[in-house]
Amino acid sequence: MTQPRLAADSSAQTLTVLFVDQSGQLGGAEFALLSLAGRYASRGKVVLLSEGPFRARLEALGVHVQVIGNERVSSIHRQSIRFGWLRALPGIASQVRAIAAEAKRFDVLFLNTQKALVLGALGKPFHRRPVIWYLHDIMSAQHFGFVQRVIVKWIVCHVVDRVVANSRASAQALAALTGGAADRLTVVHNGIDTSIFDSFGSLDASDIAVLRRRLGLPEHAWLAGLFGRIAPWKGQHVAIAALARLQDVHLVLVGDALYGEHAYAQELRDLAKRIGVTERVHFVGFRDEIPAWMKAMDVILHTSTEPEPFGRVIVEGMAAAKPVIATAAGGVTEIIQHQHNGWLVQPGDERELADAVSSLRASPDLAQRLAEQGHADAQRDFSLDGFLRKMTQEIANTTR
Ligand code: UDP
Ligand code: GLC
Repeated sequence: MTQPRLAADSSAQTLTVLFVDQSGQLGGAEFALLSLAGRYASRGKVVLLSEGPFRARLEALGVHVQVIGNERVSSIHRQSIRFGWLRALPGIASQVRAIAAEAKRFDVLFLNTQKALVLGALGKPFHRRPVIWYLHDIMSAQHFGFVQRVIVKWIVCHVVDRVVANSRASAQALAALTGGAADRLTVVHNGIDTSIFDSFGSLDASDIAVLRRRLGLPEHAWLAGLFGRIAPWKGQHVAIAALARLQDVHLVLVGDALYGEHAYAQELRDLAKRIGVTERVHFVGFRDEIPAWMKAMDVILHTSTEPEPFGRVIVEGMAAAKPVIATAAGGVTEIIQHQHNGWLVQPGDERELADAVSSLRASPDLAQRLAEQGHADAQRDFSLDGFLRKMTQEIANTTR
């Protein structure tokens, strides 16, 4: 890991940055960029490769946004990548040129997603700007196809100046892919604005009842909240299956199928019906007020069946001072220590998940202790200020 030089802080205050992200949707990578781009609003700009609600969220922070979209390139998916690239070649060339023309006006090019990486890095001969990539994925064969991994490997080895990973798990997978460029990899975990969660103060039972009424949730039920986009690997089906083993517990699913996983969303409804828990599953869709929704819960679940690269929702659950049960894989184990600041279960195991929920429900003192430790750890290790300070430093380091 490169040590920052003393002069870095002053140069970091003046560098101009062009950020590029492929999504107009509000996923975790976009929330991470939202806070960072907000910090650079007066001397940065964000290029998005597709329209969506992310644009308005950036603009509300005073960030200048430009959409450089191309339908053919946007529709390349993980599975069809081999042929998708060929069909999209003319679109790719024009996006590469347009991004390069913008990048020339800034000191640093910051790439936040994989399509952004490809399109931004390919233009380097034109823009000649230092390139930093914030890696949000675990680049393993389990998650990504061969062609995509070969392309990423080549770009990381030959074009990118600096890679920052969102967890040690993501960093290790990339190092394994590139054959050990780990010395060029720094890890910067996401940071969360914990003050919004703390602004609720301590809520007693009647405050929680009022909050639940406002959100349209059952006032007196024992509520488990699962936050995140609806997608098979996020494991909502495991939480629904666990409900069948739990008496009286309700499950609140907060999030939407952001990337077209509507068939899976329907499967979840069918599953709930088939196992007779429909009345205890609440699909509430995508919500903006995450702190309020988390505060209304008794426990926060994370159920990803594949290794989670980081998992902002876990830190948010801790910031909400709620006990968090999460699956022990990927970056999660860098956040949660079992029975210290949360509870770890094996991915995909509905029985273990149900047992964990039962244990916390039966033992409010234990649940409270884990929640308090989680809250302290979220504030200490995953603060927004810490994240912004480290990322600003990494951006400055990219120019040396
Ligand atoms: N989120 C949200 N509204 C929702 C569901 C999720 O704002 O209805 C946010 C959530 O608070 C978190 C992010 O979306 O900040 C999801 O990030 P995470 O890293 O947990 O998962 P990702 O979707 O990026 O894999
Ligand atoms: C990605 C990952 C998620 C991570 C987020 C922010 O979307 O799937 O695990 O928390 O990026 O880094």
